[in-house]
Amino acid sequence: MKHTVCLVPGDGIGPEVAHAAQRVIDASGVDIEWITLPAGAAAVETHGEVLPEETVRAIEAHRVALKGPVTTPIGGGFTSVNVGLRKRLNLYAAVRPVRSMPGVKTRFDDVDLVVVRENTEGLYSGLENEITAGVVQSLKIATRTACERIARYAFNYAHERGRKRVTVFHKANILKKSDGLFLACAREVHEAIAPDVEYEELIIDNGCMQLVRDPTRFDIVLMENLYGDIVSDLCAGLVGGLGVVPGANIGDGCAVFEAVHGSAPDIAGKNLANPLALIMSGVMMLNHLHEREAASRIREAYDAVLREANPKEITRDIGGAGGTEDFAEAIVRRL
Ligand code: NAI
Repeated sequence: MKHTVCLVPGDGIGPEVAHAAQRVIDASGVDIEWITLPAGAAAVETHGEVLPEETVRAIEAHRVALKGPVTTPIGGGFTSVNVGLRKRLNLYAAVRPVRSMPGVKTRFDDVDLVVVRENTEGLYSGLENEITAGVVQSLKIATRTACERIARYAFNYAHERGRKRVTVFHKANILKKSDGLFLACAREVHEAIAPDVEYEELIIDNGCMQLVRDPTRFDIVLMENLYGDIVSDLCAGLVGGLGVVPGANIGDGCAVFEAVHGSAPDIAGKNLANPLALIMSGVMMLNHLHEREAASRIREAYDAVLREANPKEITRDIGGAGGTEDFAEAIVRRL
């Protein structure tokens, strides 16, 4: 079956890793027509805006995108393309599977957890103002609709994937209203649709401590937007870093697959970026498109490359000396 997929290379290391991922996916034999779309710094030059309407419309129309990272300036400047895209397309669930990778040495061997992050509200509503000189406020938004929706997603995901436990990270001891609502919704949804799934609540500071002590005890970890952003990177660090953790942003209409990492300006344009996280995101995308055979062949191919650990074939962040294209080439050779 032929698929149409929107490819948003992004900026920084985005075009490099997007090219590598596209190459690997094409080599798997799956029939994809790619529509390349602008976003980020490159889009400002060509379209005068970071998130051109044409990009949003095309993803809405074709419903699936593979996206590279996009830079968001700190402090002033334009608002985030990522936040904009997630809001416009209502991509309410960020799903980030974190698993120990063969050949990638870390302190833990059997990590296999999934971070499910609410992707549309919390402090990411971007509602900030200066009340008076030297005093600013940022509004954290929590709605019953979004809290219930993400809880339902997490418990349904547990059922579909045979996962046993959902742990909610929260700070409802301090944020009694917003995180309190998030917790109340998680409890209600658990009782209503998944009483067979084990349910646990941890205050996030304790949750982070337990994650770094023994991540193998976690299965699905559910949390609101900002906590999910931070904890995703923490979890990536447990299994080998940002180069090996994929992600999906899922809505009822569309799905945008992207790595957890950012545009990595420190290594952009140097053929140093690890393309694996985006390739793994591509595997999640192929599963979403029901191209399971191609997805598992790519997964087996990159697992083989990692297991063999030839320094020329893997990138520096995971102990190699190869470049982005060497890694992609090595995976393609094994397909
Ligand atoms: P980052 O994830 O871009 O980089 C953090 C560190 O990890 C850097 O040292 C970088 O070199 C390294 N790294 C990241 N990806 C790598 C890869 N594939 N291979 C090897 N090393 C890799 O995070 P940072 O520096 O905080 O953010 C840079 C920019 O990216 C910011 O403008 C941020 O807003 C944006 N960003 C975009 C995201 C997206 O588009 N989904 C997600 C996260 C950040």
